[in-house]
Amino acid sequence: MTSHSVLFVCLGNICRSPMAEGAFRLAAARAGLEVETDSCGTAAYHVGEPPDGRAIATAELHGVDISDLRGRQIEVSDFTRFTYIFAMDHDNLRNIRRIEPDNGTAKVSLLLDVVAGREGAAVADPYYGGEENFRDTWEDVTMAAEALVAELAR
Ligand code: 4NP
Repeated sequence: MTSHSVLFVCLGNICRSPMAEGAFRLAAARAGLEVETDSCGTAAYHVGEPPDGRAIATAELHGVDISDLRGRQIEVSDFTRFTYIFAMDHDNLRNIRRIEPDNGTAKVSLLLDVVAGREGAAVADPYYGGEENFRDTWEDVTMAAEALVAELAR
């Protein structure tokens, strides 16, 4: 039985949130935890597109294939479909809250709130950066994925 469903949200759904989804799938598989997960963007800029090539390459370095993911925009049904919705940064969180329906049941927070000592921090947007920024993103989302899996496995 899948008891946990987790949605990761960034702006474009081509860099941070697909990487977070990949890191979470990896951490869950390693822990033997069955999860339902997806990612999306608050914006529609990249709907239908695969993740950024740099995000795909960074995940691939860690043995995770995210190339088959496709961008989509967050929708109202996500607030009842998922138990957790994690925003990468404060802008994402604000935009998620703006469309949250009254009957929403998902617990909405910043992703790094699950990491001790990083509460309230953002996963920085690597889109205008270089490879090192994507490496930093992978580190951040992996730390969060591992903390989240540990919490969900309890
Ligand atoms: P993401 O990064 O939100 O981590 O997917 C971005 C992707 C695209 C854009 C901005 C950020 N953009 O402006 O197109």
